[in-house]
Amino acid sequence: MGRPDPVNVAVVHGPNLHLLGRREPEVYGTDTLADVDERIRSLGAELGADVESYQSNHEGALIDFLTESESRVAGFLINPGAFTHTSIALRDCLCGLALPFVEVHLSNTAAREPFRRHSYLSDVAVGVVYGFGGDSYLLGLRGLVAHIRHNSRSN
Ligand code: DQA
Repeated sequence: MGRPDPVNVAVVHGPNLHLLGRREPEVYGTDTLADVDERIRSLGAELGADVESYQSNHEGALIDFLTESESRVAGFLINPGAFTHTSIALRDCLCGLALPFVEVHLSNTAAREPFRRHSYLSDVAVGVVYGFGGDSYLLGLRGLVAHIRHNSRSN
């Protein structure tokens, strides 16, 4: 058995995730976004996944990135930050692109303020991982890559 075909995926970080490391460390931990991206890339190398990362604080920029990267990736790992709870536009974009995506959150959003309990994305995601800090991304990446490989089998 040889190595599986490489898979390209994009990791998309929404608003305020550029502040990781100093933003409410008791909730989000002390790793910076660069630390998290490095761990994701390193797991990607192990899994045979080429991972590019993008962060924006702007809803439209996130939508533009998702749209322009569609042709070069097989799926998205996305932490939409607060847009999770507000953005029909992000949901519509992800539905329109029809690529698989996994939603991730560092914190356990179900155990926080009531307004964080609703996500506009969860019901159209392949899966959701929350509550494991930076490891949420790693667990989500494993799930996404397995899903892509499983669904691209020709028989
Ligand atoms: C978050 C949870 C959201 O409710 C919050 O607005 C964030 C981060 C998380 O990763 O835990 O910005 O997505």
